[in-house]
Amino acid sequence: MKEKNVLVTGAAGQISYSLLPRLISGETFGPNRKVNLKLVEIPPVLDKLQGTVLELEDCGFSNCGSIISTSEINEAAEDCDWALLVGSIPRGITINGKKIEERGDLLHVNGGIFTDQGNAIGTKGKEDAKILVVGNPANTNALIGKSNSNNNSQLWMAMTALDANRAKAQISIKTNRPIEDIKRMTIWGNHSPTMYPDLDNASIDGKSVSEIINDSNWIENDFLVRVQQRGKEIIDARGASSAASAANAAIDTVKNVENDTKEGTWFSAAVASDGSYGIPEGLIFGYPLRTENGKVEIVQDLELNDYARAKIEITTNELLEEKEEVKDLIALSLIHI
Ligand code: NAD
Ligand code: LMR
Repeated sequence: MKEKNVLVTGAAGQISYSLLPRLISGETFGPNRKVNLKLVEIPPVLDKLQGTVLELEDCGFSNCGSIISTSEINEAAEDCDWALLVGSIPRGITINGKKIEERGDLLHVNGGIFTDQGNAIGTKGKEDAKILVVGNPANTNALIGKSNSNNNSQLWMAMTALDANRAKAQISIKTNRPIEDIKRMTIWGNHSPTMYPDLDNASIDGKSVSEIINDSNWIENDFLVRVQQRGKEIIDARGASSAASAANAAIDTVKNVENDTKEGTWFSAAVASDGSYGIPEGLIFGYPLRTENGKVEIVQDLELNDYARAKIEITTNELLEEKEEVKDLIALSLIHI
């Protein structure tokens, strides 16, 4: 059986608890792949991680290969095909007497994690490794990781699939149509309250979702805000950030990259801008994407009206500000990104 080496950081955390079984069950990489897990945690949490490892063994999945647990990112990054960078602190907690309210407030708490991880993956990972950053603030953490990887053959992404799934769920409720009928959902920009979920270009039966809904007040004031603030809504209700749905979105992203995209649709993730849609090159920006012959490409030439362009400008500016805030963590060799 062919093998995939999958690195997961934050492996003893909430998201990983839902994520790890699905990586080795055969669901994500298909029934003909053995999946070797390289699980990374900070040293005080390695004992707890061992409990998760025991449970993974007890699942008895025949696609499960070797499992290593370590605090050494360089060891874990060796020959990785995928790196799922979940490890980081969620918002909602209190640090030095101050509650972390926004994902962007985590920049200085979490950003530093991604320098060493980026370097290790760039040096030790496979040349075609795919990296999905889940830990917040995901886009700018991915920017830090990618710049420190100093390796342009690998694909760095930040997760916006959860936002796309949230948007589809709200549209499904509103239109009374099944989720699978909703295609071409794009989340433009940052995984933050400035993200722009685009209903003009989303479609049902080939027709624009915004035309089907035909209620700009609902779209602008209910839908948009609901999706942008869904993470907070969950934290307020649950007392912890989304975990099962975040793990599910990470699995969706891996599947979307591993398999060519069906005709007539696309998926959402943030990747390094190549200048498409006027976004400054290098920013890790939420785009519509397709996988063609195993290669991920940005969908081009979508129409964006003035309202969409204004929203995209807001989220772009936020990402530029975040980049400026972490400029010390961005590797000098790639400082132009
Ligand atoms: P959690 O606190 O349950 O788990 C995080 C784990 O990361 C902990 O076990 C911690 O020990 C570990 N960790 C911390 N620093 C690490 C390091 N340097 N190396 C390896 N592991 C490290 O949190 P969670 O609920 O699993 O969430 C993890 C992150 O994902 C948070 O930043 C959260 O905000 C983010 N998140 C992102 C999305 C998204 O859509 N992008 C969705 C949900 C959550
Ligand atoms: C989410 O969107 O659920 C995560 O980014 C967690 C958060 O802080 O909102």
